[in-house]
Amino acid sequence: MRNVGMLDLQAESDLFRSDIRSAIERVLDHQRFIGGPEVEQLEGTMADVCGRKFAIAVSSGTDALLAAMMTMGIGRGDEVITTPFTFFATAGCIHRTGAKPVFVDIEPDTFNIDPSKLTAAMTERTRLIIPVHLFGQCADMERIGEVAGRQPGLSVLTDAAQAIGASRKGQPACSLGFATTLSFYPTKNLGGFGEGGMVLTDDDEFAQRCRMCRNHGETSRYHHEFVGGNFRLDTMKSAILLAKLVKLQEFNAARRRNAARYGELLADLPVQPPVIRPENESVYHQYSILCDDRDGLMAHLRECGVGCGIYYPVPLHLQECFKDLGYKAGDFPASEEAARRILALPIQPMLSDEDLQHVAGCIREYYTSK
Ligand SMILES: Cc1ncc(COP(=O)(O)O)c(C=O)c1O
Repeated sequence: MRNVGMLDLQAESDLFRSDIRSAIERVLDHQRFIGGPEVEQLEGTMADVCGRKFAIAVSSGTDALLAAMMTMGIGRGDEVITTPFTFFATAGCIHRTGAKPVFVDIEPDTFNIDPSKLTAAMTERTRLIIPVHLFGQCADMERIGEVAGRQPGLSVLTDAAQAIGASRKGQPACSLGFATTLSFYPTKNLGGFGEGGMVLTDDDEFAQRCRMCRNHGETSRYHHEFVGGNFRLDTMKSAILLAKLVKLQEFNAARRRNAARYGELLADLPVQPPVIRPENESVYHQYSILCDDRDGLMAHLRECGVGCGIYYPVPLHLQECFKDLGYKAGDFPASEEAARRILALPIQPMLSDEDLQHVAGCIREYYTSK
């Protein structure tokens, strides 16, 4: 049986094996495991790739969100708006600062936060909006920026964990909004050998304070202006990411080719492929379709050796840990519907045309046999 996996990290790693070995050797030679030259090199290169003035490498995508919010002074009494249809970290970090997460439903086709619903969720306590560029496609940053701009002191921090290399109207996704966060979790489009993340911004003062925040708010050795954390990214991981960064564009292009091919192969099947707005270039971190009888299709695909996944089965407003926020089922119909009907198919860059045909063939088989 043909196996088509969601990931092929082994095959990807093999492409970099010798470069990664050399990068590790260099770190072993200089022994600066924390704050070594590769950290700054990675920050410089990523700032260029992302069209930003400053990049601050941190310990994970979660810590990038947390450090950015701590640097902004978000805390108790503040409200932060985000989407309920995202990875948990986005809202989890809002809660961890002491602020209140306020959810706004998504557009049913792009799965990104719906800008037309923002105003109704805003109060005088709203300090921040966190759109998420879900599955590699940019949220509608112009309309979000326009709503945010109407309230003084309200900024936009973008969670671009899934959108490295994506663009909107020709601008890099990571260049949009006051600041952006990234994740280098191994399964991400630029995945490291362990945890990692980044904060990007054009604001000089914010960048400087975020650097302090990642190092316990230290101004000089053992002098702390405010409480931050240990949010540093190791030198070894930075060196490995630098080696892998070389192929980011090529890998993203392969994901886009795979998506275009799925578009052809799935055209006459009763599933809805991802809807990408004309102004967006997605990097397809996930290729998520909407389908009926999702759980039946998923079980069939697994029997056929096709990996697939549900991102995300429970919207965040219905999570046990957020029950004190007072939301209930039915509050965000588009998110709840997506959670019921969404299914991510393999899209990773190592897939062959035969793999894609196999996936589409298995979906066809499922719906014709019903
Ligand atoms: C949208 C989103 N935000 C935040 C994160 C958190 O990143 P990390 O797993 O690196 O902490 C992830 C990734 O897992 C993500 O997909």
